[in-house]
Amino acid sequence: MKTITSSFEYKILDYNELSDTQKQLVDHARKATYRSYAPYSNFKVGAAILLSNGVIVDGANQENAAFPAGTCAERSACFYAGAEYPDAKFKAIAIAARDASDDFIVNPISPCGVCRQALLEYENKGGKPVEVLLIGRDKIYSINSISDLLPFAFTEF
Ligand code: THU
Repeated sequence: MKTITSSFEYKILDYNELSDTQKQLVDHARKATYRSYAPYSNFKVGAAILLSNGVIVDGANQENAAFPAGTCAERSACFYAGAEYPDAKFKAIAIAARDASDDFIVNPISPCGVCRQALLEYENKGGKPVEVLLIGRDKIYSINSISDLLPFAFTEF
């Protein structure tokens, strides 16, 4: 028998410790929460993806009366980026959220399993790690890649 241990490193940063590019992406994600359509959960999520061509693509969760028809902020940004800029690589994604009281959440949220799988496809397509910035009210987590968030991912068939 063999036992394998898997772990990953991430950073916890203050906004002021971010690079200008990271700050710009975080600002985009925060602003995108105001374009969320979340009348059912009242949980407004914004995502912003930085592409290799310098464009930042925003997304926000879009809910639906038939619940599964809605989609998360991350996938709304991810699929728009893929459809509009098919040749650009994903470089980084930032994710922010506001709760029912409209305040930005204290502790960062992390993308759901389906979004991780969707984002991983584009990380693999681009061939480079995509940085993930998870935004809390006073602290930001920086994770080196989508694959860090989805060990043992299903990648090919
Ligand atoms: N949601 C996102 O947009 N991203 C996440 O990472 C987690 C959840 C959305 C889906 C739904 O509209 C609302 O947040 C509550 O789950």
